[in-house]
Amino acid sequence: MVGPYDKSQNLTQKRELAEKAVQMVEDNTIIGLGSGSTMQIFVDLIAERIKREQLQLHFVPASKRIESYAMHHRLNISNIEDTALLDISFDGADRIDARHNLIKGGGGSLFRERQVLEKSQKKVIIADESKFVEEFANEVIPVEIVPYNFKWTIEKIIKLGFHVAIRKIGNEYFITDNNNYIVDIKKEKPFDVKITYQELKIISGIVDVGLFIENSFIVKK
Ligand code: A5P
Repeated sequence: MVGPYDKSQNLTQKRELAEKAVQMVEDNTIIGLGSGSTMQIFVDLIAERIKREQLQLHFVPASKRIESYAMHHRLNISNIEDTALLDISFDGADRIDARHNLIKGGGGSLFRERQVLEKSQKKVIIADESKFVEEFANEVIPVEIVPYNFKWTIEKIIKLGFHVAIRKIGNEYFITDNNNYIVDIKKEKPFDVKITYQELKIISGIVDVGLFIENSFIVKK
């Protein structure tokens, strides 16, 4: 397991929820595709629906991994730069608190996932039961940081009271689609999600923080 969250859990429930989400897709739309194991199931199912119903859909992927998965299923891929607005986006989440704030980035794609979600008129999060928690104390928050002077960036995160682990694959640092590093951080005590997001985001070496405050529609059990 590379990220802090186990993606092999609840696959049957992920499939049931992805089936519900696929039914929300309307013909002739542009759809944002988040990443992760739930979204891979979503891609399997939407590809079947396209064949069955001859739908005209375009997809904007939020990671290289989901892009190649979608291409393998012969979905029409559009570049985010050339897309003014997306009609709807679907994505997974690693944790959801009682206020429906999200932690994302277990797969390391948080920056692109946020770009895709922000450009979408509707945002749908598909979340199996393992994702729901009361609050984010002791939960791991992925943060994307620039490699240049990264130890200094990590020091600043530690000063805010976080434990920090730089993500690795074996002995190598994990590299994001944007050629950056991921640090997985956590705090033992409960914290205000919005203020914490802002305190982290202002650190110059941080590209993005895996805390998502915006409200999304959640497809759940
Ligand atoms: C990827 O970086 C994440 O934000 C995913 O959306 C999240 O990890 C959910 O993944 P699963 O669907 O694999 O649980």
